Amino acid sequence: MPFQTVKGTYDILPDQMMKVNMLKDLFRHFLNLYGYDEIKTPVFEYTGVFQKENDTSDMVTKEMYTFSVNGKDSLTLRPEGTAGVIRSFVENKMYGNSELPVKLGYLEEMFRHERPQKGRQRQFTQLGIECIGDKNPLIDAEVIALGYFYIRTLGLQGIKVLINTLGDSESRLRYKEKLIEHFTPYKDELCQDCQNRLEKNPLRILDCKIDHSSKAVETAPKMELTEGAAEYFEDVKHYLDILGIPYEVDDRLVRGLDYYTDTVFEVVSTNEASGSQATIFGGGRYDNLVQEMGGPSMSGIGFAIGVERLLILCEAEEIFNVKKTIDCYVINLNEDPDYAMLIAEELRANSFSTEMDYYRRSLKAQFRSSERKNARFVLIIGEDEVNSATVTLKDTLTKAQESVKREELCERLAQLMEEYYE
Ligand code: HAM
Repeated sequence: MPFQTVKGTYDILPDQMMKVNMLKDLFRHFLNLYGYDEIKTPVFEYTGVFQKENDTSDMVTKEMYTFSVNGKDSLTLRPEGTAGVIRSFVENKMYGNSELPVKLGYLEEMFRHERPQKGRQRQFTQLGIECIGDKNPLIDAEVIALGYFYIRTLGLQGIKVLINTLGDSESRLRYKEKLIEHFTPYKDELCQDCQNRLEKNPLRILDCKIDHSSKAVETAPKMELTEGAAEYFEDVKHYLDILGIPYEVDDRLVRGLDYYTDTVFEVVSTNEASGSQATIFGGGRYDNLVQEMGGPSMSGIGFAIGVERLLILCEAEEIFNVKKTIDCYVINLNEDPDYAMLIAEELRANSFSTEMDYYRRSLKAQFRSSERKNARFVLIIGEDEVNSATVTLKDTLTKAQESVKREELCERLAQLMEEYYE
């Protein structure tokens, strides 16, 4: 049996790679528009970067690829981008920057040992940002805006922004106690995960996929925010209104990672093509992560978009109309390929993407190749062309054909391209 990809991992074949690169290019453009710099952190880190004491998230407790080599330190393939970026922020003392907040973006592979299904893989790609070093509702709204307008610019329909607040530490602490009190009588009816979460992180019970519509969850009390936390959330909503970003407040939105505080958000798709994995991206504010990682007390906020989920939607909504094209295809009719090869290389040196025939096939076969490769120009080289140092140039759009001197070829091609688009 030939080898196959490991369960939950996929090849991205050239056709899809073009689309992935388009998504990445547009994301990089958005990073630039909003003043974010790109960062790359290692694929694996010390396990402690991701795993904090008393962590209850599924990602940390069940899904990490953790290993050690030769019985040395415990290492983990990164399951998400935020922890590594914050480790780097602290390690490189970026908190000392004269310009805060520090705005960082990343386009990276992540690894989680989840049950694979459409839109859920064991290796996947996230496009993410982290804005670290300041706490201000303006920033929360701007972070959401970057992600939202990125998705809108792609042209996706049926997008819903859900937001919530997990409050400040005082509101959360009070709420936790209330929830423990509320859920304890229902303990035996909750799923095993929620029974484990009850003491440590009862908030997560609220958005459990299994207990979601149980009486226990439906009758759960709502969070009472402190005045400061309520005001902060009102301001975030106000700025979203100013920016014209439609949103729904979902007071059951908790998010699956433990580090969130105050604002949390998700962008979901209502397109049925996304199946059960409708969340395109999610994020939120984290007040304590920088300090937990050994840095000063500084807040941050960010999000991450799942590229594979985005791709499913973009394909379902026929967002991409991409066809790989090349500028020139060189048809060689001579025994000796030297002249054709030189012409091809001269064209590439002048930035015209070029392919040539390697096998001296029939004229017809070579023309077919040029069509399959969507060449804009075909250059035909026979004996006459070699002897007169010319090429026969065919414009596949206008169908016009002409003889061009070798030294004038690049200029002529540039002229034809320009004329056509005028
Ligand atoms: P997350 O919600 O765990 O958040 O993941 C963000 C996005 O990554 C999801 O909405 C989804 O699109 C994609 N994703 C997650 N797991 C998978 C998977 N197994 N297969 C395919 N796509 C997946 C975070 O990771 C946070 N670090 C986001 C963040 C940044 N919060 C603050 N800053």
